[in-house]
Amino acid sequence: MKEAVLDLATQNLERKGFLDLEIDPTLDLFEEINRLKKEKNAIILAHYYQEPDIQDIADYIGDSLGLSQEAARTEADIIVFAGVHFMAETAKMLSPGKKVLLPDLKAGCSLADSAPAPLFRAFKERYPNHVVVSYINCTAELKTLTDICCTSTNAVHVIESIPEDQPIIFAPDKNLGAYLVKKTGRDMVLWNGACMVHEIFSAEKITKLMLRHPEAELIAHPECEAHILEKAHFIGSTTGLLKYTMRSSAKEFIVATESGIIHQMEKASPDKVFIPAPPDNTCACNECPHMRLNTLEKLYLCLKYEKPEILLPDWVIEQGRTCIDRMLDISARAGL
Ligand code: 13P
Ligand code: SF4
Repeated sequence: MKEAVLDLATQNLERKGFLDLEIDPTLDLFEEINRLKKEKNAIILAHYYQEPDIQDIADYIGDSLGLSQEAARTEADIIVFAGVHFMAETAKMLSPGKKVLLPDLKAGCSLADSAPAPLFRAFKERYPNHVVVSYINCTAELKTLTDICCTSTNAVHVIESIPEDQPIIFAPDKNLGAYLVKKTGRDMVLWNGACMVHEIFSAEKITKLMLRHPEAELIAHPECEAHILEKAHFIGSTTGLLKYTMRSSAKEFIVATESGIIHQMEKASPDKVFIPAPPDNTCACNECPHMRLNTLEKLYLCLKYEKPEILLPDWVIEQGRTCIDRMLDISARAGL
């Protein structure tokens, strides 16, 4: 068996106690983070699902495509990735010469976890003539088994770039996969993975909410299940959803994705109302437990001590990068 891509257990052990370091309560963390950023020529890239304070201090906030493009083009020496593990790994593959830090190494992803590389390798062998398209929400090792990567912004372009008679395996998100089958008319073999946050929405509660807010538009991320997407006025990536709320004449939106994005929606359209889509349980929140492991305190410690760092074996960077480069080429040609 090939060497493990990233030995999380070892890395966590190495930094055991690191998160317990006391931070002087009188410190202005915003000021300190900004000072350290300048001193170390570091850049903070943050996903929209991060807590508002992290979004506010980030140099760049974006969806998975935007974050990858930024990681590829930055001239900073250090990339602090305020997001989850697969995003920081992607940044490392795109900028292998740079130090890539993740404030909490345990910030994983249920979708990436749903496709372990050894199982996927065996699955792929059952479909020998297929091209593999993987959603970027997968491990670096899965990317080494992938022909073209995609994000929710460019997935349709990626599928349409493949000749019509070429069979395709799509992994790991079965919901995004089913949405793409419908949208492109391509009959793809789907891996059975899903995101825990986007699978939690209750269609029944959303319907009731829509009845109570008849003017509101339901906007949804394509990681949601088909019965939620069927009701949506608009489907798109996080950036797609944000831009839609800015151009739509609607004044109220029911937002079926992780609630962190609402911070930017409210900033961009302070006169509009954003209601998080209700989940199918008693929990009142739609927060990704992985994304939310990062905090401003951990961000500060990470920048100060330059730990924990994302390290990948050379073979993973070499073999895994090709599918990301292909995705970036297709996106550039499509003007995305
Ligand atoms: P995008 O921001 O690319 O839409 O992806 C959403 C997501 O689930 C990231 O984990
Ligand atoms: Fe993964 Fe879902 Fe969290 Fe995104 S929201 S990081 S897909 S678990």
